[in-house]
Amino acid sequence: MAAPGSGAVSLLRGGRSGSRLRRAGAGTGGPRRPVDRTGPAPASTGCGSGAGGVAPGSAHRPHRRGAAVGAEQMSADLAALVALLRGRLTRAEGRAGAEAAKVSGLLDRASAEAPYAASAHPLVRHLPAALAGLERDAPDIAALLGPLAQGLPWRYGYDARADLPDLHLNMGWAEFVGPAAPLRSDEVCLGLTLIGPHTHYPAHRHPAVELYHVLTGAAEWSGDWRPPGAFILHETNQEHAMRAGDEPLLALYTWSGDVVSPSVWSAPS
Ligand SMILES: [Fe+2]
Repeated sequence: MAAPGSGAVSLLRGGRSGSRLRRAGAGTGGPRRPVDRTGPAPASTGCGSGAGGVAPGSAHRPHRRGAAVGAEQMSADLAALVALLRGRLTRAEGRAGAEAAKVSGLLDRASAEAPYAASAHPLVRHLPAALAGLERDAPDIAALLGPLAQGLPWRYGYDARADLPDLHLNMGWAEFVGPAAPLRSDEVCLGLTLIGPHTHYPAHRHPAVELYHVLTGAAEWSGDWRPPGAFILHETNQEHAMRAGDEPLLALYTWSGDVVSPSVWSAPS
């Protein structure tokens, strides 16, 4: 992992010069998480809403040969998206605001060195509706995310549930900063969670402190319906669940603290 430095800071704040971030070409950077059931290879580990941790430094590093044409532009566009999402953290208040400030400081230390590849996860079928909602609720983010959305590394990594056999087809996340993300950090994670309409994301918990920011799609968060713009904080090992409404839920998430230990279901199915 490259040492943190000014290049990483400029990337996370939207700078384009000196980018070393690459979008991997086909066949590179495949998913790495062993319980993934939707891609041609095991999915990657990371934080956010997913299960299956990874030891720092142990993540697979895809090679850079065969990088897609226009990779530099893809890199710059992803960096700009991350910078815009990071800017949303300044809107948080109270305990959520304190966590957002902590996350922002940790993001300064992330490094940009890894390529990423589209996962072709079935979850992407919800993207058109999610992007339509985002055009209404956060058009600035929609403008940057739209061209990138289908090519992001969407994935899912929880153990299967007998009571929700299609859950892995209807929820997942794309991680931009984290132990196995394009922008590497063992201290903080940042990404997008996407949950299909009426999908129930059952109760789960994890050691990391988690901050969600709803971008589009009103959803039920542990019993409370929260609109776009809301921040939801989950403290260490706090049990929580979500249920999407009539529209897909697209939310920014961050993890801090123990970003390596996995998220686990609170109760077996
Ligand atoms: Fe969570």
